[in-house]
Amino acid sequence: MSFRMAAMKAIAINGSPHMDEGNTAMILNPFLEGLKEAGCDAELFYTRKLKIGPCNGDMSCWFINPGVCAQKDDMEILAPRLKEADIIIWASPVYYSGVTGPLKNIMDRQLPIHVLGSMGENKQKIVLVSTCGDWDISMFDPLLMQMKALYSRPDGSSSFAGALLRPMADGVKEMIKAGETGLVDGVFLAAREAGRQLAREGIISEELQQKVSRPLMPREAYYKAAQMMMDEMKKAIKKAGK
Ligand SMILES: Cc1cc2nc3c(=O)[nH]c(=O)nc-3n(C[C@H](O)[C@H](O)[C@H](O)COP(=O)(O)O)c2cc1C
Repeated sequence: MSFRMAAMKAIAINGSPHMDEGNTAMILNPFLEGLKEAGCDAELFYTRKLKIGPCNGDMSCWFINPGVCAQKDDMEILAPRLKEADIIIWASPVYYSGVTGPLKNIMDRQLPIHVLGSMGENKQKIVLVSTCGDWDISMFDPLLMQMKALYSRPDGSSSFAGALLRPMADGVKEMIKAGETGLVDGVFLAAREAGRQLAREGIISEELQQKVSRPLMPREAYYKAAQMMMDEMKKAIKKAGK
């Protein structure tokens, strides 16, 4: 008789309106490939393709119909998956020191899953994947703080397994266009390895997290290049008569 262990289940939700073409996908996708290579079942959702309204705050999911949301929309697709997943990956660009609005709506709409007394049933691992335009890694601090506050639960029902954070992400795109792939390839390889490591060990090492975030050029050089890029874009828009 042979036993086959059930594959670990991961759910990733990408909150970028640019979906697969965006900077966030640039880090998230190799990470998901790594998870799958290590035998994990990983499902990816884009907030842009889902119709999910904000929480209406009536708390009926706790006090009237425990565990049931009064709103009927695409949260019905996500809720069972978020409840059952071994790994939850929140992926978002930094928008004004936070995640994007649609992703925050989904976070808030988890309330029926988190009915009092129902926690602690599943030991979930949580990952944050985020990108931003700025050079400075401190841009991610508010997102990290939120994740750690949410998921370092005293009952041990979930734990924060690490974050893949890519500052100067717009610069990375430009470097790829310019064929400067040497340094950038190391970032994607690290994201992929992080997926494999998470599936194997349940955590992403500091070393791999740092490889994803590593500075790719000096701060001043990046700000100068970004300014030049914006000037060029403005000129092109003007020329096109927009
Ligand atoms: C509305 C808006 C707000 C933004 N806020 C920030 C910010 O506070 N800090 C930052 O470094 N980048 C900010 N950005 C830039 C994005 O985080 C960055 O371009 C990101 O990599 C885009 O990811 P995506 O292509 O997956 O959408 C902002 C962009 C938009 C459109």
